[in-house]
Amino acid sequence: MEKIAVFGTGYVGLVTGACFVNAGHNVTCVDIDETKIERLKKGECPIVEKDLPVRIEKGVQSGNLSFTTNASLAVKNCKVIFIAVGTPTKKGSEEADLSAVFAVARTIQENADSSKIVIQKSTVPVGTGDEVEEILNSQIKSGEDRFFHVVVSNPEFLKEGRAIHDFEYPDRVVIGTNDKEAQRVMRKIYVPFMRTSDRMIFMSRPSAELTKVVANTMLAMRISAMNAITPLAEKFGADVTEVRRGIGTDSRIGTAFLFPGGATFGGSCFPKDVRALIAIMEESGMDAGIFKEVMEINHEQRMRFIGKILNYFEKGDITGKKIAVWGLSFKPGTDDVREAASFDVIRTILEKGGTVSVFDEHAKEIFRNEFGNVKGIEYCDDQYVTTKDADALVILTDAMEFRLLDLERLKKAMNKLVIFDGKNLHDPEEMSKEGAHYICMGRPFFNPKS
Ligand SMILES: NC(=O)c1ccc[n+]([C@@H]2O[C@H](COP(=O)([O-])OP(=O)(O)OC[C@H]3O[C@@H](n4cnc5c(N)ncnc54)[C@H](O)[C@@H]3O)[C@@H](O)[C@H]2O)c1
Repeated sequence: MEKIAVFGTGYVGLVTGACFVNAGHNVTCVDIDETKIERLKKGECPIVEKDLPVRIEKGVQSGNLSFTTNASLAVKNCKVIFIAVGTPTKKGSEEADLSAVFAVARTIQENADSSKIVIQKSTVPVGTGDEVEEILNSQIKSGEDRFFHVVVSNPEFLKEGRAIHDFEYPDRVVIGTNDKEAQRVMRKIYVPFMRTSDRMIFMSRPSAELTKVVANTMLAMRISAMNAITPLAEKFGADVTEVRRGIGTDSRIGTAFLFPGGATFGGSCFPKDVRALIAIMEESGMDAGIFKEVMEINHEQRMRFIGKILNYFEKGDITGKKIAVWGLSFKPGTDDVREAASFDVIRTILEKGGTVSVFDEHAKEIFRNEFGNVKGIEYCDDQYVTTKDADALVILTDAMEFRLLDLERLKKAMNKLVIFDGKNLHDPEEMSKEGAHYICMGRPFFNPKS
């Protein structure tokens, strides 16, 4: 068993802490957000993530999982300290905001009374580990001091909605350090998750930092590449979902992250990580053109989808129209709404004079907090209630409950069966047979059969 402190109780920090405890370690989770820590202490899970509440409850009951705002005590008590705080895009720039990471480093530096292994789990630009190590060791005079803090890069690859599974059954665990003792400790921490095969990959710290950002950028590139061909597919009557199946069966390509659509990628990772890669490349005098394209295509595709919604109505006039919107989070199974397509879609409809009635199983309250109870928006608890007297339905995530439609119910509820599918979930020809005006991305449009 290792005594571990985890700084940051967000999507990554909480999952990390809960899974380590489940594997037999002792974990203290630290956050500066007092309300969050109070909720956690009461046994409430502040985020939506499958199986996480049960893991937290079990961990607390075992006495091996605790929550605190007392950073000083946690630093003193634990030799191993994970940093899992947010690294959002800096306001007004493309760079990652590393202030929370550096703040934790300073806290450790000020409170440590022995050598620590500090593990960087937050996604950071290459070279950040050097800066963190410098902060940690800044007051330690070489020779006369008893301790030296080592920084390890251990990027996280979990997917929200499947985070517990991904953490406990990882494709790989990347460990960036050349320090032998740190390598030994990291192996000990992760060994419970390596029973079927050893998937730990040791490398240098900068390589590990770069691995994470490049992994996300490659996945984002695949989505943008597919989105970039949707106008061409539309022009020539091809169906991009057929193309996806055709290329995905090639073992060199594979099927994942090839879903084109109008609700383009968002979330707390892809946009900010691609932007951070662009920023550091440009800062280093390099051409980041290919990665800039990834972001531009993502934005243009989202705008093209919104354009299709507006242009459906006569002269693009959506004034007084009621639009039902399904899916507010950036993907299903989470309440995370960061950079979700829903913001752009809903904001545009409201700005153009329409009204919206919205549904999301998990993200409604968080979206409401971010977006506000502005005029023209109605929050519903039932997806079909949103469609009452609606002039169109817009689908923005591929949540299970949106994959089969109760068309009879929609026909009865809506003024006209008009569906804008940002995730290409349904068959355009089948939809037309049902009398639906079904509009998606990169697929043929069939006139509805009356
Ligand atoms: N969310 C994901 O799916 C995911 C996946 C892989 C990697 N990551 C990366 O992991 C990092 C964390 O992401 P997240 O989604 O968990 O973030 P988050 O915003 O959900 O949580 C961050 C937490 O850190 C806390 N915090 C900020 N400053 C602190 C400090 N000085 N001391 C203690 N706590 C502090 C915040 O209060 C917050 O609770 C980011 O760098 C992100 O890019 C995220």
